[in-house]
Order: sequence, then structure tokens, then C-alpha cells
Amino acid sequence: MGLDSPDDAGVYKLNEETALIQTLDFLTPVTDSPYEFGMIAAANSLSDVYAMGGEPITVMNIVCFPSCDLPEEVLAETLRGGLDKIHESGATLVGGHSVDDPEFKYGLSVTGIVNPDKVLTNTGAQKGDAVILTKPIGTGVMATAIKARLASKENIEEAVAVMSMLNKGAAGIMKEYTIHSCTDVTGFGLAGHLLEMAKGSRKDILIHTEKVPLLKNALDFANMGLVPAGAHKNRKFFEPLTRIDPALDRAAVDLMFDPQTSGGLLISLDKNQARAFVEKMKTIGQEAWIIGEIKDESITGFLQLI
Ligand code: CO
Ligand code: CO
Ligand code: CO
Repeated sequence: MGLDSPDDAGVYKLNEETALIQTLDFLTPVTDSPYEFGMIAAANSLSDVYAMGGEPITVMNIVCFPSCDLPEEVLAETLRGGLDKIHESGATLVGGHSVDDPEFKYGLSVTGIVNPDKVLTNTGAQKGDAVILTKPIGTGVMATAIKARLASKENIEEAVAVMSMLNKGAAGIMKEYTIHSCTDVTGFGLAGHLLEMAKGSRKDILIHTEKVPLLKNALDFANMGLVPAGAHKNRKFFEPLTRIDPALDRAAVDLMFDPQTSGGLLISLDKNQARAFVEKMKTIGQEAWIIGEIKDESITGFLQLI
């Protein structure tokens, strides 16, 4: 599985029992705290392996660091945050590479494994499936509010907690259910990743916008116009395939296109299993939300926001 159909990671079958999953991601800082940034960047990089139904095995650090402008301690704290998340994932750090660069960036290359018959893609959604999301959205709007110094301490803490949470727990629970398709929500925003699922699965998707979980105050900030440029770019790019109920609030729609850092898993599964999945997430202290359904067969795959 590679470049012909866009998915979260590359998959290479080694033998009947094992396929390799390979992915690479890195970010520029999203918080003032280097330790938190390290956790978030690592969780973000590991997420694509979970989205493919796999388990991360080994990781390597990738670092671009402005050694003349920032103290070495910033790098050490970032790597410490990353390592804590690597340990939590159960993967082993086996190396890495760093270069001097004017703009600080950190992330991981991740190698995972999966049973070749259990690979989850964004192409398998079936008519009548429920669509589940495992983290609230709004991190792009929140980052804009943080830069504008309008976000409260509570807002920042919630965003950091959401972004640094591994998708490991949700991925483990997916193994107990018949999952038809899965991806994670990142830069294209919820709507963009839904459209990739719609296109890949050749189905229309209906989303009940009011059921989509949002970070606290994200809607207020979006109403104030604190919407990142990336959200407008996403909207422009994905709008031709999106049917938006004209009665929807503009800020609520903007949030559907808000680019996410280290977002949750987006899952389609038999609607009869959806409630049980949500309840099971509570048993590990996490949440999941049923936000919509997979509709009819369709050549392009439309997204309908109501
Ligand atoms: Co992804
Ligand atoms: Co990725
Ligand atoms: Co090297």
C-alpha cells in the first residue's frame, strides 16, 4: 500500500503474518513548553500507525534545531517529552538525526507492525456504518487564540491534554470490533479527512455538526474570527465536494475545516456496534462520539454537513 491511494502510512507485507507500517511526521512548536511540544509531536507521529490498525515497534527522532537561537535545554526537554510518549506507546527509540536549522521542528519516523489481513484503511466504509470520532476538534482555532493571548489557562491545558493523548487506547479497542475504515484527523481538518474516507470508500458521508465534540470555547473563538489560514485553505479545497446546510452557523462550519494537530481517530463501523464502542472507550477513561453515518454509493464521495 503506497502512493496511489492516499492513506496514513505505507504498508509493506513481509509474510502471511506480518506487514510493516512506515510513517514520518514532524511539527513546528505548538506550545510554549518544550516538554509538552515533545509529547504532542510524538503522539502525532505515532498516530498514523494506530490509524492503520498497527502497533508501533521502533521509532527514530527527527530534529531541526536553531542551536544559535535556542538554549540546548529546549531540545533536551522536547526530546524528554517525546521519549515519555514513546515509552507509553511501548515502542523503542533506536536512533535519529538532527540538523541545524533556523526553524525548530521535531517529530518521529515510526515503524509498526500489523497482521496483513487486519490493516485498516480509509477505503472500507460501508453504507449504514456509524462514524465515530475519538477526540474533540478545534486545536487550530485554539492555537490561534493562544497566540492572540485570549485562551485561558484551562483552554490551554485542555488542548495540550487532547493533543498529547496517544490514540493507542482507541486503537486497542478497535481490535474488539469490526471496523470498516479508519484514519486520523490532522492537517486537512475533520471535513478533509472525512472526504478522503468518502472518496476512498466511494460513499457519501452525512455529519451531524452539532454532535461533533469541540474544545471548550473553540466555537466562541471561531465566532471572533480566530480561524487559522489553514482552515480557510481546507475549506476552499474541500468545499466543492461538501454540501453545507445553509442554516448552519458559519463558525461551526469553519471548525469542521480547522486543521488539527494530533487529532483523534475517525472510524466507521457497523452502526449496531457503535454504542458499545463508545461505552467501551469510557472503561479506559476516554471518550468517543458518534457524529454521523455512511450513506449511499457515490463515485466522488460527497460530505454532507447538517
Ligand atoms: Co494520518
Ligand atoms: Co501523517
Ligand atoms: Co544521520
